[in-house]
Amino acid sequence: MEIKFLDRSFFQRLFGTPATSKPGTPDCWTYADGKLTVNLKKAPELKKIGGALRFEGGDLPERVLVVFGKDKTYRAYKNRCTHIGHRRLDPVPGTDTVQCCSVNKSTYDQNGKKIYGPAPKPVTPYPTAVKGNRLVVTIS
Ligand code: FES
Repeated sequence: MEIKFLDRSFFQRLFGTPATSKPGTPDCWTYADGKLTVNLKKAPELKKIGGALRFEGGDLPERVLVVFGKDKTYRAYKNRCTHIGHRRLDPVPGTDTVQCCSVNKSTYDQNGKKIYGPAPKPVTPYPTAVKGNRLVVTIS
């Protein structure tokens, strides 16, 4: 598989600045009983193919990256590269991969398997389900 790299500056990679933003509407998500629930009406970032958001803070036990894939399904990952820097991940446009925002660019396939870079392990994918206007990501 040809690996594509996200177009990021050296300093963005050096400081681990992810391309993916947090939701523009901060109250679009809640976390309870091991589930991250996103109100998709309040998360327009996840309506376009390739769109993504990162969820972190509050009661959420792990950082979570959610991507709306080319197949129009949602994929979610523990947003923590398994390489030593444990930087955040971003989707790579036009692919089904996610990539570490650091200089080493560890890259994972849609199932979380590492396909490039120094990361020693896969990233954890989380199950997703759409219920009406709600996306539910099961974290534990
Ligand atoms: S922290 Fe991801 S490649 Fe180093």
